[in-house]
Amino acid sequence: MQLHIVDHPLAASSLTVLRDERTPRSRFRPVLYDLAMMLVYEATRTLPTMPVAVTTPLATTSGVRLAAEPVVVPVLRAGLGMLPAALNLLPDAHTAFIGLSRDETTFEPTVYLEAVPSDLAGRPVLLLDPMLATGGSALHCLRLLADRGARGVTVVSVVAAPEGLAALESGGPAVGTADLTVVTAVVDERLNETAYIVPGLGDAGDRIFGEM
Ligand code: URA
Repeated sequence: MQLHIVDHPLAASSLTVLRDERTPRSRFRPVLYDLAMMLVYEATRTLPTMPVAVTTPLATTSGVRLAAEPVVVPVLRAGLGMLPAALNLLPDAHTAFIGLSRDETTFEPTVYLEAVPSDLAGRPVLLLDPMLATGGSALHCLRLLADRGARGVTVVSVVAAPEGLAALESGGPAVGTADLTVVTAVVDERLNETAYIVPGLGDAGDRIFGEM
């Protein structure tokens, strides 16, 4: 597994606004949009391109376009907060959805939606989930994506916990993901007793959409 921490003053200042408990939903969403842009920009740095000719008003020159359209997979609910930025950068991406809720005693994910193309072979996949906490949800998604043929998956998160990264490091190959990258703005200290990331930013879904 490769870990890429986006170390940039704009990412760090956006993250600070997201962490702040006083940041209202109305501001949280656009700041998450900005930060997701930066994270997806980094997550797509190695996407393969193919050469194309382009004609400017003055001459014909060489350009590129993406060789394969990526598949973007927001993990519901909170991953939806990162989707608009991802689709702005990747307007032709295919969007798939995985819906997971968390059992508040075992912290294990329960699946309520899997709307994912049946054949992901050869397609770069971006899994969007702002909080990489225990890694249980991400591993569930990686298993599903690998079962559908995905080999190169990039998990795009805002805050990662060491526990979640360790789970992906050991579990990623076991679920069939040959080429796994994690892009995040920060690796935080730890999980607390209810599997929330500390210091984190709280419940990302609640911060984006409101408490359930
Ligand atoms: N999910 C969240 O939204 N926040 C955490 O801290 C952990 C999981």
